[in-house]
Formats: sequence, structure tokens, C-alpha cells
Amino acid sequence: MPLTRLVYFSKNRIPTDGSVAIQLKHILASSIKNNVPGAVTGGLVFNRNYFLQVLEGDRATVTKVFMTISGDPRHDQIELVDMKEARERMFGAWAMGFASTPQLIKELWSKIDVAGEFNPKLLTCDQIVKLIFELVTKEEGFASSRQFAIA
Ligand SMILES: Cc1cc2nc3c(=O)[nH]c(=O)nc-3n(C[C@H](O)[C@H](O)[C@H](O)COP(=O)(O)O)c2cc1C
Repeated sequence: MPLTRLVYFSKNRIPTDGSVAIQLKHILASSIKNNVPGAVTGGLVFNRNYFLQVLEGDRATVTKVFMTISGDPRHDQIELVDMKEARERMFGAWAMGFASTPQLIKELWSKIDVAGEFNPKLLTCDQIVKLIFELVTKEEGFASSRQFAIA
């Protein structure tokens, strides 16, 4: 069963009525509950406008999880960036690593050679995967018991 890595980004559609942090918590709770038994790992980045996500695991399972996620009304305009076999997991440490801290996103975005506001449409697949990995890794060391920060 080949190991597969899927990469996409989408537009955030969570209503801006104060429910964002709650919805993010629900998404992460579902991710942990469902991804662990299916041996799916990955990383999820949220900023005000976008979700960026990597899913890794068995090809059939990753496909199934992605199909479920695709139908979720909390986002739309999904752009599938890549889905291909991978030699090893990059996100093996996380059922679903998460990052949303505005300062970290701003800091890493400023190091990428693109102009303007944070916009995943301007990035290559490799840049997106690297950005998600670095954000999730940095965020882990940022603060363990903070509220969700929204970029
Ligand atoms: C951006 C985004 C990423 C998500 N990632 C996952 C995921 O990795 N795994 C998962 O099971 N559900 C994920 N979800 C939630 C699913 O769309 C769906 O709500 C969930 O799988 C339902 O499962 P439950 O009823 O068992 O909680 C995500 C949703 C969104 C909007």
C-alpha cells in the first residue's frame, strides 16, 4: 500500500461571528479521532482567508479523508496542489499538526520571494509543503496552552 502525500489549499468560510476558534477545535478533534486509526498524518495551517493542508498515509485512506474534507462547508474553492507517492512521512509526528499564529505566518511569508499579502496561489507545491512543515514545527514550540490566534 503506497504511502501518499496530498497537498491542497482552500478558502476559509467559517462565519466571522466569533465561532472560528470553536470550529478550529472541532476540526482538530475530528482530525485526531479519525486520522489516528487510519494512520493518517499531516499538517494544517489556518489564516483568516485560507486553509493549507498536507495529508499523508495509505493512498486509499488519504483519498477517503480528502473526499470527506472536500465536502466540508467550512471551506471552499479547494485547489488540489499535488497527490503523489512519498518515500517517507514528513509529518509523522502529528495526527494533524496545526499552526495559525499570525506572527509566525507573517515571519515565514516574508522570507519567501513573493510580493504582497499571504496567498498560497503564488506558491509552488514544494514551497507550500515546506511552509506548512516549518509553521507546524515552530508553532509547537510557541505556546502549548494558548488560545487560537487568528491571522
Ligand atoms: C480545512 C479542514 C481540514 C480538515 N481536516 C480533517 C482531517 O485531517 N481529518 C478528518 O477526519 N477530518 C478533517 N476535517 C473535518 C471533516 O471535514 C469532517 O468534518 C470530519 O471528518 C467529520 O468527522 P466526525 O463526524 O467523525 O467528527 C477537516 C475540515 C476542514 C474544514
